[in-house]
Formats: sequence, structure tokens, C-alpha cells
Amino acid sequence: MTKGERPSTIWFVPLLVFALVTAVTGIVFAKPLAQTSDGEALFKEKCVACHTIGGGDLVGPDLQGVAERRSNEWLTQWILAPDQVLASGDPIAAELLAKYKNVPMPNLALTPDQVDSLLAYMGSGATIGGTVLPTGDATRGKALFVGDKRFENSGPQCMSCHSIAGIGALGGGSLGPDLTANGYTKYGEGLAAFLGAPPTVTMNVVWKDTPLTPQEQADLFAFMKNASVSGREPGALLQIALLAILGAAAWIALAQFYWGKRLKGVRRPMIERTLAAAQK
Ligand code: HEC
Ligand code: HEC
Repeated sequence: MTKGERPSTIWFVPLLVFALVTAVTGIVFAKPLAQTSDGEALFKEKCVACHTIGGGDLVGPDLQGVAERRSNEWLTQWILAPDQVLASGDPIAAELLAKYKNVPMPNLALTPDQVDSLLAYMGSGATIGGTVLPTGDATRGKALFVGDKRFENSGPQCMSCHSIAGIGALGGGSLGPDLTANGYTKYGEGLAAFLGAPPTVTMNVVWKDTPLTPQEQADLFAFMKNASVSGREPGALLQIALLAILGAAAWIALAQFYWGKRLKGVRRPMIERTLAAAQK
């Protein structure tokens, strides 16, 4: 090494220090600050339907202290793709699923960045309770469900996509699942909160911009709880059976009318020919 080379390398030292300091402050300060607030917004949009932080269990567990219960790696994998963690045979996931009424947490199609901000928010010590709902009225809930009563924020009637016990034999639409077994029976008391910010694909699209009011949430919850508990009423089953019998009878009558003669018209000459041939 010659003496002449020294001064040129020294130029790089301040540059290097500057770059290092920027990188470290960037990682330590800037990122978590931005992420915590993003995380809060995301949590309110995607998670409050099923989770509180410090407000007790809903459809899913209270997430207070979850960052201490589980490793960062597990949490990242889980929030990114709970369906895949469960499918991999992960014992924690299996135990949680059994404990929470076998309702699997849905894959919410989040990006790794979004999951980072959620983790930062959940680790920040913030709490977020469930909304306390007013007392619900099942009769009003039914009126809202079938569309006799309009939603305050003008969302569509539930019946256009869902059937449920208690709304008559022909029920409602079939785009969404029948809510007799997939409402209160599936989600339990957590259903009330679920309705406030349903995170599943279609429901999210429908209700994000026209949310239910807390009163509507409570009324629908009361109606759906009744429907699950009493099940499909015998009256409706009888109506379905009668409709089926009437339908079958109509088909038989029609078939007789159109094809009855033709069958005879073909068969009689055939029989006569056979008989004639036998007599020869
Ligand atoms: C439709 C309801 C639902 C939504 C929405 C939901 N979760 Fe869950 N979550 C659950 C259920 C139920 C469990 C328990 C495991 C199971 O049954 O699959 C769970 C478990 C968890 C766990 C593990 C808790 C523990 O004790 O280890 C974490 C962490 C979690 N969810 C985070 C989130 C985050 C973050 C969001 C929003 C991005 C979210 N969840 C959205 C239902 C939901
Ligand atoms: C535009 C059609 C549509 C309307 C209107 C609609 N839903 Fe849904 N709903 C769906 C679909 C589709 C699903 C299945 C999950 C998804 O894709 O969101 C669903 C899922 C649900 C679930 C979860 C069922 C399960 O098996 O986990 C509940 C509860 C529910 N809807 C309640 C309601 C209530 C209450 C209303 C009225 C306030 C309503 N829905 C209005 C289409 C609709």
C-alpha cells in the first residue's frame, strides 16, 4: 500500500456514516410510526368483525398479548394465510380452530406489508373493544331482512342473497349461504359484531360503503338468533311438501296430455301386427 492512496479512501467515510445513520433511523423510527397508524385502520376494517384487543372474545380470540403468546414468525404466517397454516397441520392452529367453534379464520388476502403494520399495531399496547349494541328487536330484524323496512344507509335487503328459517317456504336468494345454520349457529354471540364489518369477499363489498347502524345490527342479530334456535318451522316444511306434490301432479297431467295418445298410437298397431303374425 502506498501513501498516495489514503486521501481518496477517506472521502468515503462521511458518506458511509451518513448512509448508515439514515438507514438505522429509517428502520428504527420512521417505519414503525407509519405502520402503527396504518395497522389501526386496517385492523378496524378487516379484523374487528371477529376480534377485540382487550375487549373479550368474539368469533375469534381476544388478541391482547398475542405478540407474547406467539412468535412473530407464526403470527406473520397466520395472518397472511391462516388457511395454509391450518392445512399444514400446525398444532396451534388446530387447537384454536377446535376452541373457536370450528369457524376457520378466513384468508383475507393481505400483503406482507399490511401484515407488518398489523403486527406493529397489535404489539403497540393499543386496545380496541367491541361496540356495545342496543337491545335488538326480532320483528324489526325480520322486516329488515326481507326488505319490508329499508336500511338507513340504503344497503340491499339480506333476502336478495340469503335464505333463512322464518321467511316462508320459497325463502330468499342463493348467492350467499342459508343463514339458518350459517348465522347464529355458526358464529354464536359473535355474529352481532360480525354484521358490523363483515370481512368476507362479497359481504365486504356490499356493506363497506353502506354499513348497518348499531340498532339494525342488533335487530338482525335478534331475528337470526331466533331463526337458528327455532329452525325451519313445520309450516314451511309442509308448504314445501305441498308445492312439490302439486308440481309433480301438474307434470304427470301434462305428460298424459301430450304423450299419452302418441304412446297408444304407436303401441296399438305394433300389438296388432304381432298378433296377426302369430296367427299365421
Ligand atoms: C371471520 C372472523 C375473523 C376475522 C375477520 C379475522 N379473524 Fe383472526 N381469528 C378468527 C378465529 C375464529 C380464530 C381462531 C382460530 C380459528 O378458529 O381459525 C382467529 C385467530 C387469530 C389469531 C391467533 C390468536 C391466538 O390466540 O393465537 C390472530 C393473531 C388473528 N386471528 C389475527 C387476526 C387479524 C390481524 C385479523 C384482521 C386482519 C383477523 N384475525 C381477522 C376469526 C377471524
Ligand atoms: C349481494 C348479496 C348479499 C347480500 C345483500 C347479503 N349477503 Fe350475506 N353473504 C353473501 C355471500 C356471497 C356470502 C358468503 C361469503 C362472502 O362471499 O362474503 C355471505 C355471507 C354472510 C354471512 C356469513 C355466513 C357464513 O357461512 O359464514 C352472514 C352471517 C351474512 N352473510 C349475513 C347477511 C345479512 C344479515 C345480510 C343483510 C343485512 C346479508 N348477509 C346481505 C351475500 C350477500
